[in-house]
Amino acid sequence: MLYLLFLLAHLFAALMFIGTVFFEVLILASVHKQLPARVMLLVEQGIGRRARALMPWVLLVLFGAGIGMVWLRYLPVLAAPSSSAFGALLTLKLILAASVLMHFLLTVWLMRRGRVSAAYLRFVHLSLFCHMVAIVLLAKSMFYITW
Ligand code: HEM
Repeated sequence: MLYLLFLLAHLFAALMFIGTVFFEVLILASVHKQLPARVMLLVEQGIGRRARALMPWVLLVLFGAGIGMVWLRYLPVLAAPSSSAFGALLTLKLILAASVLMHFLLTVWLMRRGRVSAAYLRFVHLSLFCHMVAIVLLAKSMFYITW
């Protein structure tokens, strides 16, 4: 029952995080060309404010529930990651998740110093987008692929 709770919390937090990254890259990026720069700036400031308030909590639930699931079920698998396809793919997923966390912490650190440029944000969004695609592929295929 506790595992199911962690799994559902992880899934909903992942939906929110992945959805936000996909929205930024696939929708917001192309709206740039259709709106005046001044309007776009206001839209981005509004979205940025909301994201900065919400995302730390989403990440807390995502990582907290993920760690909870590993602790309840997958510690033995992760102790010998190379001895099963599941262990190897889960390990790869966790490395990518750690990299996502690094992106987040680095961006917060740079924002506090006022050193975040539009080019940097574009790069981070694109990089996170690639991470999300890989993480979802790994999260689902690790249950089906064997070698
Ligand atoms: C950016 C961070 C992360 C994203 C986007 C993410 C996303 C996902 C998704 C979409 C699933 C599939 C859930 C399902 O359909 O049932 C999943 C499963 C899983 N995730 Fe994550 N995850 C992230 C970080 C983590 C972390 C940090 C851990 C552990 C430390 C973790 C551990 C797991 C485990 C163990 C499963 C398998 C659950 C099961 O079906 O039994 N994840 N993740």
